Amino acid sequence: TSLRHEAAKRDILIGSGAINPTYLDDPEFAAVLSLQFESLSPENEGKWTFLEKTQGHYNWTSLDRLVDFAESNDMVVKGHGLISSCCNPDYVLNMTDPTALRAAMTAHFEAFMHRYDSKTVDRWDVVTEALETMGGGLQDNIFHKVLGPGYIAEAFRIARAAIPEAKLFINENLVESLPDKRKELYDLVSGLVADGVPVDGVALQMHITLAAPLPGVLTDIVNSYKALGLEVAIAEMDVHTLNDTLTTDIYGAVMQEAVSANITDISFWGFTDKHLYTWLPGAKPLMFDEEYNPKGAFYAVHDALEKS
Ligand code: G3I
Repeated sequence: TSLRHEAAKRDILIGSGAINPTYLDDPEFAAVLSLQFESLSPENEGKWTFLEKTQGHYNWTSLDRLVDFAESNDMVVKGHGLISSCCNPDYVLNMTDPTALRAAMTAHFEAFMHRYDSKTVDRWDVVTEALETMGGGLQDNIFHKVLGPGYIAEAFRIARAAIPEAKLFINENLVESLPDKRKELYDLVSGLVADGVPVDGVALQMHITLAAPLPGVLTDIVNSYKALGLEVAIAEMDVHTLNDTLTTDIYGAVMQEAVSANITDISFWGFTDKHLYTWLPGAKPLMFDEEYNPKGAFYAVHDALEKS
């Protein structure tokens, strides 16, 4: 059976991110994607600089193709992402006036969010990688420079106003591995919730190097946000240990804990180790090999969904 079939039995939305629309030219890629997964997210095509390099001039071709594919295959799409510390066009990077930047954010969010059916693109990474990679404060990105730390709250309010029913996530890396960063994100998000900022969930990237998060950490994260009324998703999991057995074990351990902690939205950052189909070429971090054969990691994930 497929991952999608097993996940659906538990009301888990299973997905693959890092989808570049040109990969759909390969019928085998497209077949595995639609058979195994119920959600997909674009790798780069939704990032501001790819979508709107010049103010007001949008390049929708690639994203339209992904969304059409999803709709034809009964899948949903994750809006990755609205703003991020990376990937901003020059016209944004050159802004110094808060009013102009707010207007640009509003125009960009509305254009992107209103482009697609809100039942197909039903969840969004509103802010990605707000924190320094290793923790220790907010990244001093263009939004922070011009609008101050309140840019995060502003972004969520703009997104909520654009589509009231959309699920809005804050997407962050390494919080499952770095205890101080975990606390920092919790403090940030609980502050947003206390201020009435419309955030619905935390998207854990989970690009895992060498070791799985310590047992219990995912469960603690889920419970701490549940107490705030928020959900936790796994958004971009891949595992790069360079050792297949260890990789398999990590996939299995993380998925078992995710299932028992009731995480209901789980995506991987791609599915095939095919050259350049992962951002970690050579690392073999995904569930299928270069010829689309399922690896040990696939069976570990499948078992966790089927039996946990
Ligand atoms: O499109 C340009 C091309 O025109 C140019 O010639 C070439 C030369 O460098 O660069 C191309 O852009 C690259 C882009 O991928 C498309 O291939 C960027 O340099 C490169 O930085 C970019 O990397 C992406 C990275 O995010 C940064 O945006 C990866 O593909 C993508 O997998 C990665 O994904 C991120 C998530 O969005 C957020 N979480 C972490 C995750 C992994 O880093």
